[in-house]
Amino acid sequence: MSATRVQLLSPRTLPLLSPGRVTLFLQGGGGPHRGGVGPRFRSLTSPPVSCSSSPGRALSSLSTTRRGLPKEKMSENGMMSRAKVLTIDTMNPTVKKVEYAVRGPIVQRAVELERELSEGMKKPFAEVIKANIGDAHAMGQQPITFFRQVLALCSYPELLSDSTFPEDAKSRACRILNSCGGNSMGAYSASQGIESVRQDVARYIERRDGGVPCDPDNIYLTTGASDGIVTMLKLLVCGEGAMRAGVMISIPQYPLYSAALAELSAVQINYYLNEEKCWSLDISELQRALDEARLYCNPRALCIINPGNPTGQVQSRECIEDVIRFAAKERLFLMADEVYQDNVYAEGCQFHSFKKVLFEMGPEYSETVELASFHSTSKCYMGECGFRGGYMEIINMDDDVKAQLTKLLSVRLCPPVPGQALMDLVVNPPQPGEPSYEHFIKVNTKLT
Ligand SMILES: Cc1ncc(COP(=O)(O)O)c(C=O)c1O
Repeated sequence: MSATRVQLLSPRTLPLLSPGRVTLFLQGGGGPHRGGVGPRFRSLTSPPVSCSSSPGRALSSLSTTRRGLPKEKMSENGMMSRAKVLTIDTMNPTVKKVEYAVRGPIVQRAVELERELSEGMKKPFAEVIKANIGDAHAMGQQPITFFRQVLALCSYPELLSDSTFPEDAKSRACRILNSCGGNSMGAYSASQGIESVRQDVARYIERRDGGVPCDPDNIYLTTGASDGIVTMLKLLVCGEGAMRAGVMISIPQYPLYSAALAELSAVQINYYLNEEKCWSLDISELQRALDEARLYCNPRALCIINPGNPTGQVQSRECIEDVIRFAAKERLFLMADEVYQDNVYAEGCQFHSFKKVLFEMGPEYSETVELASFHSTSKCYMGECGFRGGYMEIINMDDDVKAQLTKLLSVRLCPPVPGQALMDLVVNPPQPGEPSYEHFIKVNTKLT
């Protein structure tokens, strides 16, 4: 090799380098190791020139080696490059099937329009309002002071000696920190979530449901409701061909469902909400969708969004009873997405949880119908999407499956601890007589 040549080194040639020779990484030129995308080495003994006698000419076309590994080729600038191991043709095909309109091309166009407006480009409008997702804080909603005070205290406990923080925020922060490993929010929690938070969630559900009992052991804290929904779908999906698991989802839908089902290669079974009747759910439509789907898949679960998104309907108690009877008759696992449970505004409308209705229908249903219901810190009056807090409650799940669920969740270690802390505050807000109560109620009622 001439003194003026660039030396491209592979790990195999690296040990041959004479001691003391300087090497550096050239980023982005393909990997030094088999199929790698890592850096490339270049000797610093000389100024860089091409190592090819005729620079710019590809020495070899792309093909694979005997072991099926991508071969190197000479690129335009004379550098050796290697075909990517991971290409659009070789990647997981189920990921390519995923469509997620919430962050899709329309959103990208909206971001572009915003940028153009900020650069002074003239448009027939002055502002872009993004209606693709409920992200209250992004739209200017202010956080609830008490929640942020407690989270600040938990994140930086030195503030506990700061007299500007109210005492109830401090005692709440201490309670949360006492439940954290090493008294720090920076520690992993149990995979199912911090026990004291799960207990608070259980007490909240009991209050919400007029005393229907809730076992903290059935509560799983999650990374937003999305995490719980996807986890449950993972448990449900199995089978091949005509026995592939099918999952019934409402149309219009929240696109997490279709995206998750595509990724899991499950069969999406659409049932249509009735626009003429305020987007209500007809059991006859559920039956139609189910009967048709049984010809080509194995329907296993029925997903309900109540209150609805994007349709905003609130299901009547009778409708929920009908859905539960339908799920029992057709042997379907029920998934109740109830993240908008506190966003009910219309006169005469009331939120009924699936759990409560199920238990009030008596043991024929309450002891048999399998249900997972989901809630989140992202919606309602708090709108704290970024903290990724949530929980799911599971009812009548087979004990062995429950053990598998806990195992599956333990792979991701735990949901974010700040999100768990926030969930705790949401289900256990300031109480009458506590210093933060008046302000909390004033702001909360203004928001809801
Ligand atoms: C119906 C519905 N379910 C679930 C989610 C996801 O919520 P999270 O932020 O808790 O994952 C959303 C978010 O907008 C939603 O509208």
